[in-house]
Parts: sequence; C-alpha cells; structure tokens
Amino acid sequence: MHSFHDLLLNRRSIRKYTSEPIAPEDVKLILEAALTSPSSKSQRSWQFVVVEDPEMLTQLGQCKPNYATSVAKAPLAVVVIADMTKSDAWIEDASVAAIIMQLQAADLGLGSCWVEVHNRFRDDNEPSEDYVRQLLDIPEKFGVLCIVTFGHKDEQRRPIDPARLEWEKVHIGKWQQKQAE
Ligand SMILES: Cc1cc2nc3c(=O)[nH]c(=O)nc-3n(C[C@H](O)[C@H](O)[C@H](O)COP(=O)(O)O)c2cc1C
Repeated sequence: MHSFHDLLLNRRSIRKYTSEPIAPEDVKLILEAALTSPSSKSQRSWQFVVVEDPEMLTQLGQCKPNYATSVAKAPLAVVVIADMTKSDAWIEDASVAAIIMQLQAADLGLGSCWVEVHNRFRDDNEPSEDYVRQLLDIPEKFGVLCIVTFGHKDEQRRPIDPARLEWEKVHIGKWQQKQAE
C-alpha cells in the first residue's frame, strides 16, 4: 500500500510501453475514474474516445510532428474531448478528467502520458484538433483537448524529489516578489 502522496511523487510521464495489453478491468477503472471527475456547474461536458486499434493509434500519433511519440506504440489511448457548447469551462473539465485518469493509472502501476492536441498543429498547419476529429468522426462542437496514452512501463523514471519542489512559487497571505519574474 502506498500513500496518495507517494503516488503523486511517483507519477511521471511514461512514453515507452511494453506490448502487454492492459487488462479490461484496469481499462474500466481508468474510464470510471474519468467519469467521477468534478466539472464546472456539474455540466460533465467531457466525453472519451477509447482507442486500442494499432492502426488507429499509429494515425493518431501523426496528430502533430513532435511530442506525440507515446501514441503509436501504446496499447491504449483515451482521446479527451468536451462539448464546447455545453460549457465555457470545457478545457478545465477535460483537463481534470485527463489527470484523474493518469492518477488512476499510476495507482494501478501503469504508465501514462498526456499528449496535447488543442492549439497544436500538423506540419501543414492543419490544426491537430481537426485531424483527430476527422479520424475519429467526432462532431465539430467537441473540442479535442488531449490524447492520454496508457501502458505497462517500458522505461524507469525517477520519482519527483520533494527537496526540489519550487516552494518560491507559493505565496503566503499576499503575492510577494521573490525572484526576477
Ligand atoms: C498540458 C500538458 C500538455 C502536455 N503535452 C505533452 C505532449 O504533447 N507530449 C508529451 O510527450 N508530453 C506532454 N506532456 C507531459 C509533460 O511533458 C510532463 O508532464 C512534464 O515534462 C513533467 O514530467 P512528468 O510528468 O514526468 O513529471 C504534457 C503535460 C501537460 C500537463
């Protein structure tokens, strides 16, 4: 048993996965975690597209030229979308759901990585969101925030060192100048 604090220190972005599939009960727990997420005005503007097909994962990995490396070889990706007509806080709603899935995955001993799609572009200046929408038949009214990839870890990352946390970013009582901003 690890504490929640240990879980936070040990959650690192994992971009390399073994070929072992994720057990269906773990996939269900990850999605269940997403569906528990708090949301603005309880609008639950998010929806989730679960992708396990290797060909589709390869195509999703081409949503932008860099930093989408974890997608093509992941056994599972969840595309986090939200109805922009339902909530002006759709980005926040979707972000909360994405990190909650990552924490659930960490608790299961799985690796995960957030791959940003919103405001990103393909080589030809096509918005990454348009590309992903078209690939997955997602209606226009949904913003595509990110793709979260999951898998059994095939790389080791050091846990976060509590001694290196940026406490200067915490202001007690009032904001204070602490360094050249
Ligand atoms: C909003 C957001 C966008 C991110 N986009 C990407 C991405 O497109 N590709 C990627 O490989 N990692 C992405 N990451 C993961 C970050 O690179 C990672 O969280 C950061 O380097 C800190 O490392 P850690 O998660 O291991 O602590 C993103 C994370 C966040 C929160």
